[in-house]
Amino acid sequence: MALFSTDAKAKALAAAPLLQGLAKRELRELAKVTEDLDFAEGKVLCREGDWAREFFVIVDGEARVSKKGRRVAMLAPGAFFGEIALLERIPRTATVTAVTPLRALVLTSQTFWSLVDRHPGIERKILRALVERIRRTEVDDPTLR
Ligand code: CMP
Repeated sequence: MALFSTDAKAKALAAAPLLQGLAKRELRELAKVTEDLDFAEGKVLCREGDWAREFFVIVDGEARVSKKGRRVAMLAPGAFFGEIALLERIPRTATVTAVTPLRALVLTSQTFWSLVDRHPGIERKILRALVERIRRTEVDDPTLR
């Protein structure tokens, strides 16, 4: 069941820092091909090692990012996740779990790529976030030492 109308989804998309700069018309187009989903607290949205391709933008609620069972980050409304498996065509690099009831907008791989292709600014924001995420992730894999 759709939770949001196209207008409400466009508004939620506009609130995400990643998508700031998109014209109203583009936000509406994007909203039409974006799924809005409601998740219960505790729901695993991405599981480390799984092959999956969705890209998520959090509208409401918080999520925990963990690697090998250890928390590496918390994500708040406006944050996005799921970009790494998409960009690199590798399994999920972390587990992302809703720690509160969570609403998210979910983009398919196809929608994600057409967005990135049309907006170099979005690609740059994703790259910057990636660098930050890498910088903040502790290396605890003994094979890397
Ligand atoms: P992906 O690997 O597709 O699925 C798990 C997601 O968790 C990953 O994409 C990133 O979006 C996110 N993620 C992984 N590592 C970190 C980190 N150190 N900080 C914040 N988010 C992360």
